[in-house]
Amino acid sequence: MDMNDFQSVRGMRDLLPEEAEGLEEIIAKAKRVASLYGYRQIITPVVESYELLNAKSGEEIRSRMFVFEDLGQRKIVLRPEFTASIARLITTPLKNEPKPLRIFSVGSVYRYDEPQRGRYREFWQSNFELIGSNMPEADAEVVLLTNRLMKDAGLRNYEFKLGHVGILRAILSQYGINEQRQNAVLQKMDKKEFDAALGLVENKDCRKILEGLISLKKNEPPSAEPSSIVGEIEKHVKGCKEASDALKNLSDILNLLNKGGCSIKTVDPAFARGLDYYTGMIFEVYIPELDIALGGGGRYNKLVEAFKGEPTAAVGVAHGLDRIALAKQLQDKMKKTAIQEKRGRKKRVLVTSISDAVKGKALEISEELRKAGVETEFEVMGRKMSRALEDADKRKMDYAVIVGERELKEGKVVVRNLTKREQAAVPLEELTRKIKGKS
Ligand code: HAM
Repeated sequence: MDMNDFQSVRGMRDLLPEEAEGLEEIIAKAKRVASLYGYRQIITPVVESYELLNAKSGEEIRSRMFVFEDLGQRKIVLRPEFTASIARLITTPLKNEPKPLRIFSVGSVYRYDEPQRGRYREFWQSNFELIGSNMPEADAEVVLLTNRLMKDAGLRNYEFKLGHVGILRAILSQYGINEQRQNAVLQKMDKKEFDAALGLVENKDCRKILEGLISLKKNEPPSAEPSSIVGEIEKHVKGCKEASDALKNLSDILNLLNKGGCSIKTVDPAFARGLDYYTGMIFEVYIPELDIALGGGGRYNKLVEAFKGEPTAAVGVAHGLDRIALAKQLQDKMKKTAIQEKRGRKKRVLVTSISDAVKGKALEISEELRKAGVETEFEVMGRKMSRALEDADKRKMDYAVIVGERELKEGKVVVRNLTKREQAAVPLEELTRKIKGKS
């Protein structure tokens, strides 16, 4: 291998100063949100034991972990998320901390995803966990702080999607489907493979209820109010007490979010997420310009217990900081284009003279144009014509007015259309009209 062949590993990125600054800015905002909501930072190792992550993360993440053996033959993973590490802490060093515990972490995480825009193998998350409360206000809090972060990051038109795996699990449990099979069904639903999900459910009555919930989403008009969807879900689950309780919980959370000034675009009864540990409300946040989530989370009341800790209610969220930075970039670019388009009706003109002898006249023409409201830049660098035009072109100016002795004698100047790359001699008295007239 030649030294010049060295490249970063596939899926890994170098963040050059501008990108690094963009990421740092979002990190600073996430830290600020953490303080505002009373979350204290914890720093955990980038590597964890394979067993920890293997236990409860779910197939989706498990199959994409970076796994290796260290020199002491321990099976190690690069952390694919923070939640398992935090749950591990709750079982031991933080076991006796008074609840609620609010924990914030930020750092890089690793997943062997297929690299594409917004999807990397090393990416950054800010992670918030609220431990020790089973109240709907705790669920509402992690959504609200996400809302705050989106707003502070300067994003527009972002949308929340909410669901409740407690409803789905309750229905599956009622028909005797064990947790492992439930996880498999939810994994399929997460991937929108609804037929495959239904195929895993043998009981006809159970399948019918699930089908009903899945079709609910398809048949709802996109503008449907969350409360009307809750009403519809109610009709499908009324035979199952546990599912009705879960729905009541979802409805309570929605009401609190409403009070907290966070509007929810979509309530999706067939919504599931790739992680196995969720037991209750789940959510994700999107912007219209990107079809991948900027953040996601939910309630996981059984994870700490699964790690041999006390049964502990918990809810949390992780934000994809690289994606938030990308989203910001996309929206900023679109805003700029919109401004440019608006401006587009106003032409930008460069005025330059062929020789010193007519420089004064060229300046006079510039002032005339400005008087008529045309945005005009006069060539002040003394550059050769070709260089000045090249520069005007690069800066996306619309016209160059070239003042030369020969044309001036006929009372004309040359007007070059920089977009169309054509030029013509134009009588001075028609110059403003020519430039302003064309749109
Ligand atoms: P997650 O949905 O797997 O949740 O990831 C959270 C966020 O990380 C996603 O919404 C996305 O923005 C970002 N993300 C995921 N994969 C990639 C990737 N390949 N490249 C760039 N960004 C990515 C969790 O990680 C849970 N631990 C969240 C949680 C905390 N639930 C409860 N507490």
